[in-house]
Amino acid sequence: MPRHLIDWHLIDDATWERLIERALHHFHATNRWSTVAAKRSVGLLFFNPSLRTRTSMELAAVQLGAHASTLNVGQGTWGFSWEKGKVMDGAEAEHIDEAVGVLSRYYDALGVRVFASLTDAQKDRDETLLHTFIQASTVPVINLESAFYHPCQALGDAATMMTHFNGDVRRKKFVLTWCYHPKALPMAVPNSALLTASRLGMDVTLACPPAYVLDKKITDLAAGYARQHGASFDIVHDQAAGCEGADIIYAKAWSGPAVYAGADQEAALRAENRDWRVTPGIMDRTHNGRFMHCLPVRRNIVVDDAVLDSPASIHLQQAEFRLHAQKAILEHVWGLGV
Ligand code: CP
Repeated sequence: MPRHLIDWHLIDDATWERLIERALHHFHATNRWSTVAAKRSVGLLFFNPSLRTRTSMELAAVQLGAHASTLNVGQGTWGFSWEKGKVMDGAEAEHIDEAVGVLSRYYDALGVRVFASLTDAQKDRDETLLHTFIQASTVPVINLESAFYHPCQALGDAATMMTHFNGDVRRKKFVLTWCYHPKALPMAVPNSALLTASRLGMDVTLACPPAYVLDKKITDLAAGYARQHGASFDIVHDQAAGCEGADIIYAKAWSGPAVYAGADQEAALRAENRDWRVTPGIMDRTHNGRFMHCLPVRRNIVVDDAVLDSPASIHLQQAEFRLHAQKAILEHVWGLGV
């Protein structure tokens, strides 16, 4: 059975902790280059845009001695059909079963980015596309951001916070704050951020308008991690009050479950909350807090320039950790045992 990476909550604590240590090891390494994964290869399929995930994974593979190649699906590839039993008389020329079946005969691992539909709640919740991809693969599959999870971001974020707090983040106050955005965005990053902070034993607050509470599966998992660590997990609907005393402000826009009832309805709800933005006033309420965002971020919509350009913001170091985390992930799926 290949060692797939779907999400960390499906992987035991010891492995999760070891991989954070490996990401930190790569961060501290004076020489970023090795040959530990020589003669291996990873194929990366992007059904959605990316800057960080694509480049950090390509570079991580190369710096470990492996080869990486990227396919931007739809740009020079065939269009893929996903449904079983489909009569393929439309625009799609190739079924995902053949595409992944072939690529897994070429590569030693595959990465896939396939976002949420935001129209079919069950399909997104069940990670139908990711699992369809995995079922067709004979090699490990790395989730490069799916409908519900972004484990690559999560590991980088965990290592970022461990570095910032000198290895002990327990009971630090982590606030995941919803922010307004002109577009309906998926929930993979906020889901993963919430799970990461709670699994690290941080005191976690989810601050969002009432319609933007994340899926119960995620909040239940986060609450469970909090109990396991004797930490807290709270949901609040007042952004400023929620950020009081925070050590980390993690900002993200997401569309929330309301999007599945209708895009127009959700857009109207979102517009009612345009003032949810991280400002210097919000940061003033924190405990000398640091600002994090997965990027890309819309300046002066999600967060003010004055916050992003201040020493409080660690978003660039956070992005750097994506490279170190990708190396740990490649080592893991290939069982390199380093
Ligand atoms: N945070 C993140 O995944 O960035 P990209 O979408 O640019 O890969």
